[in-house]
Amino acid sequence: MAHQVKGVIAGAKGAPVTLTTVMVPDPGPGEALVAVQACGVCHTDLHYREGGIGEDFPYLLGHEASGVVEAVGPDVSGLAPGDFVILNWRAVCGQCRACLRGRPWYCFATHNATQKMTLSDGTQLSPALGIGAFAEKTLVAAGQCTKVNPAIKPEVAGLLGCGVMAGLGAALNTAGVTRGDSVAVIGCGGVGDAAILGASLAGARKIIAVDVDDRKLEWAGQFGATDTVNSRSEDPVERIRELTEGNGADVVIEAVGRPETYKQAFYGRDLAGTVVLVGVPTPTMQLDLPLLDVFGRGGSLKSSWYGDCLPTRDFPMLVDLHLQGRLPLDKFVSETIALDAIEDAFAKMERGEVLRSVVVL
Ligand SMILES: NC(=O)c1ccc[n+]([C@@H]2O[C@H](COP(=O)([O-])OP(=O)(O)OC[C@H]3O[C@@H](n4cnc5c(N)ncnc54)[C@H](O)[C@@H]3O)[C@@H](O)[C@H]2O)c1
Ligand SMILES: [Zn+2]
Ligand SMILES: [Zn+2]
Repeated sequence: MAHQVKGVIAGAKGAPVTLTTVMVPDPGPGEALVAVQACGVCHTDLHYREGGIGEDFPYLLGHEASGVVEAVGPDVSGLAPGDFVILNWRAVCGQCRACLRGRPWYCFATHNATQKMTLSDGTQLSPALGIGAFAEKTLVAAGQCTKVNPAIKPEVAGLLGCGVMAGLGAALNTAGVTRGDSVAVIGCGGVGDAAILGASLAGARKIIAVDVDDRKLEWAGQFGATDTVNSRSEDPVERIRELTEGNGADVVIEAVGRPETYKQAFYGRDLAGTVVLVGVPTPTMQLDLPLLDVFGRGGSLKSSWYGDCLPTRDFPMLVDLHLQGRLPLDKFVSETIALDAIEDAFAKMERGEVLRSVVVL
């Protein structure tokens, strides 16, 4: 039996999203049907709409979600109807070469639902990041459901499912920020501010927030930024160096996804420092750097997918820290909205008015 629900579709490259009827199959082997309670609007959803991620339209958008398991497939264990879960896009396989080497956060064969969700005319949908949670119900692989303490508010929990985890993990897992480090974060949206929060949690002594928008810089202070730089009015590389005794930061996290901001990150770090790219570039972007500088400045240039998180390890832990008052995740929620307001939320995101708009169902 298929469930007929409302969902938000990106039908064609660059076209406004539409709220339409989506058919969601009952869960088969290895799958779970989830009643979505909340789903954040991430910049990656906008990238999908713009054709920046792929051309597999129509996309069922939304991937930063929490909800309650409604039904599970016949062979599923460890997950039952009524469980409160955060949806993840890293359901590890346990069998690929990364998993077998004990590094499942790099899993190269993550699981998604096998059956397809469709439009009412049978057109198959591509769920964003294998989730598709701007919908009343969605079908995922059982492993994409991570059980957490239901005491957390759904609209806050969902954020750990993508952007906030990506930022926290870029600082904590990928960069390995530690006590006493200097850290600069370029781009202070939801992802960048989460990187600032992660650096603060890890004990960084200086955290420099860089953005082109003063409002974003003001918000960055609430997550632990010690200094702010508006890169429209000041040279960010010069300012980062000035703020770090002329050296550059130990770690620079790029959370925009553009060649020019990557270059700022590259030159804003100290010798032997670390650059972490979290922002998602588009397929046409190119990077041009003197190879001698790549060699001569040493250190490490890393990318961070999903903050190198392991959902089973990280989500329940971060929820606990939040419930203890040590991780103010609620500050990321700028507004809660209905499913029909996602186009407006994209516009607000582009105008810099929100950190996260969160759809609540
Ligand atoms: N690697 C991952 O796993 C992962 C996960 C989620 C999102 N992302 C990506 O991270 C990026 C940020 O996502 P978000 O949801 O925080 O987006 P957002 O739109 O909320 O924030 C982007 C921020 O960058 C700032 N900005 C834009 N141009 C800039 C420039 N030239 N210099 C400095 N700042 C600039 C904007 O003012 C804004 O504050 C996106 O590319 C998104 O696709 C990556
Ligand atoms: Zn694997
Ligand atoms: Zn995302």
